[in-house]
Amino acid sequence: MSARRKLIVVANRGPVSYARDAAGERIAKRGGGGLVTALRSLVAHHDVTWIASAMNDEDREVAEEHGGDAFDETSREGSPYRMRLVAHEASAYDWYYNVVANPTLWFLQHYMWGLPYAPDVDLGLHNAWFNGYLPVNEGFARATVAELDREPDAAVFFHDYHLYLAPKLVREERPDALLAHFVHIPWPETDYWHVLPEHLRRAVHEGVLANDVLGFHTERWKRNFLRACEDILGADVDYDDSTVVHDGRRTQVTSHPLGIEPGEFDDLRADPAVLEQEQAIVERRPEFLVLRVDRTDPSKNVVRGFRAFALFLDMHPELHGRVTLLALLDPSRQDVPEYSEYLAAIQREARTVNDRFQSEGWTPIDLQIADNFAQAVAAYKQYDALLVNAVFDGLNLVSKEAPLVNERNGVLILSENTGSHEELGDWALTVNPFDIYGQAQAIHEALAMDPDEKRRRLEQTRASVREHDLAAWIAAQLADLDRVGVAFAHGDDRGSH
Ligand code: F6P
Repeated sequence: MSARRKLIVVANRGPVSYARDAAGERIAKRGGGGLVTALRSLVAHHDVTWIASAMNDEDREVAEEHGGDAFDETSREGSPYRMRLVAHEASAYDWYYNVVANPTLWFLQHYMWGLPYAPDVDLGLHNAWFNGYLPVNEGFARATVAELDREPDAAVFFHDYHLYLAPKLVREERPDALLAHFVHIPWPETDYWHVLPEHLRRAVHEGVLANDVLGFHTERWKRNFLRACEDILGADVDYDDSTVVHDGRRTQVTSHPLGIEPGEFDDLRADPAVLEQEQAIVERRPEFLVLRVDRTDPSKNVVRGFRAFALFLDMHPELHGRVTLLALLDPSRQDVPEYSEYLAAIQREARTVNDRFQSEGWTPIDLQIADNFAQAVAAYKQYDALLVNAVFDGLNLVSKEAPLVNERNGVLILSENTGSHEELGDWALTVNPFDIYGQAQAIHEALAMDPDEKRRRLEQTRASVREHDLAAWIAAQLADLDRVGVAFAHGDDRGSH
């Protein structure tokens, strides 16, 4: 573990969000998602100030009570940290989150449009960019500069696609600050960036190049980024060193796949809430259980997964009544129409498959729409095949978490377009996410696989997940910061900014 250091984490979502319980008392609820889970452990080992958006009325009230300044918080594990909630204009936040970040940047970076039909870069999107995405990034930049004034030698650690403009805004104010950014989602190839008008795609790439370090999960996303800098900005790219020089300053680009905390999952296996959920699953499960655990995000490819399962049932009538697809789906971003429509499509497809195949006492697709982590971990223990067929995915933590606790030598079916495929592909059954027939075949291959082969694959997967754990990822991020920090101190050319 590296020495304790001062870090300013800047991410849209905070480690907690506030609410009132039934008695009217304020409570802090743990923020969801992989990013928050990953960064929580930073708090235990370093002096962290976390800047996040106030996401609901209670958050806004908390922000106001502290005059918009940072305040002291304590993590569930008992570690102190500082939290600063930025209360953006409600309309600006809506445009930023519900028009630009999710239905535009997220869609772009996961290749999610059928281009003859979408997107329209219309006045609404231009407005949302300049009156939503930009002012929210300005708000984050102002808060970051204020925290840097308090701790000038703290390193700033930006996260994700919500904050592409903020690093350049901070850099303009604090030329010597140490800035790093981690992008948790894919970086698409240059041509797809051409869906955005030139000034917008340039703003994204110039914004993140204001960082000293820019991290991705995989070599694939990193390569795409380097190419895009060359193509879109005409930047000077060194592919051997993975550096980009643009506008007189150098950015080190890295790839480190995010890991999980194995100890957390070792403990969860015997957690009473998990055991209770597991009992319920065991009582209902047929001979074979195929599992998927996802947010209801179109990038997760749930509908095609259901179609593949239906085709598998068509191809294998001998397995009718003996196998269920358990789909545990966490509702996500429901204020974005594309997401609420996708949730409806998921429900429709499950209904179609069930109407067609179900019989007395057997429901082929058991669809559960809920945010229930204990149930997910219980299902992780019980699956025979885990289907991760994302269209594209920056990493995919489910493919790392589930094998760690699985107790049935379950087989991982993994999309070739997930970041985790770079690490786990050798021990998974690789599928193309668009190939429904290939996925149907993979489901059968997983269930029919020789038990020794299943065990071998699971053990290798686990060994890799344990080796490339969260602590390794954090150590790599901090080592990158140290590397560029030292170069800076020695006056090398990154300091020409
Ligand atoms: O990397 C994408 C990501 O930020 C994940 O960390 C997280 O699971 C998800 O998106 C959460 O999205 P949101 O904050 O919109 O719920």
